[in-house]
Amino acid sequence: MKSLIVANWKMNPLSQKAASQLFDSLKRGLKNVRKTEVVVCPPFVYLSGNRLTSFKLGAQDCFWQDKGAFTGEISPQMLKDLGVRYVILGHSERRQVMGEADEMVNKKIKEVLRLKLWPIVCVGETAQERKKGETFQVLKREIKEGFKNVPKSQMSKVVIAYEPIWAIGTGNPCLADDALTAVLFIRKVISQIFGMALAKKIRILYGGSANSQNAGDYLNQEGINGLLVGGASLKPKEFLKIARG
Ligand code: 13P
Repeated sequence: MKSLIVANWKMNPLSQKAASQLFDSLKRGLKNVRKTEVVVCPPFVYLSGNRLTSFKLGAQDCFWQDKGAFTGEISPQMLKDLGVRYVILGHSERRQVMGEADEMVNKKIKEVLRLKLWPIVCVGETAQERKKGETFQVLKREIKEGFKNVPKSQMSKVVIAYEPIWAIGTGNPCLADDALTAVLFIRKVISQIFGMALAKKIRILYGGSANSQNAGDYLNQEGINGLLVGGASLKPKEFLKIARG
């Protein structure tokens, strides 16, 4: 299975020009990359006009209904129309800053899957939860609630990203062994809900201060299927090193 390398640009860069430059470097640099599948998730405003390139497009969020009076929201149907394939859902920054609850994440997952888009669902514990030994409890809750009533038949499109919140943007990545332990636990929970076959197949990524130096530590672990990259994805050279696998 090819590793999946996802760039999450978050709320960057600040101009159309800078976004085009970043896209251009990636298009050039990824032309002959075959070892990995690369997905780029820019802010919504830069999604348009980047169809059919050497990587797939993803969005960083969307709403849970496909049309109507929802001021400021973005419909998954609109994303689909732009050629977007993946949608990051339940990122910790949305959960923590925007107060997104498991129930909202669940509604979004269901809508995105209904429209045949591929959700990248983020789960992970805070530093405090980890200190209190609650990591598994948090992961279990986020998965159980997030995938509540999701038909098993749709689960093959799902990607899960283990992103311990304390490792995001801190330069303090989770040790590869610890990331693997969390990923194996996530597979166990998936197997309890959806069965062993899916638990073996589902793609699970690691995210949190991943860079070109440590990428191999995660990608070499059987069971970790790729990376969700924040800060390092804004530096083309750095990201291309990761994406080349
Ligand atoms: P950093 O790679 O900047 O730690 O961000 C990780 C992340 O949140 C990706 O979604």
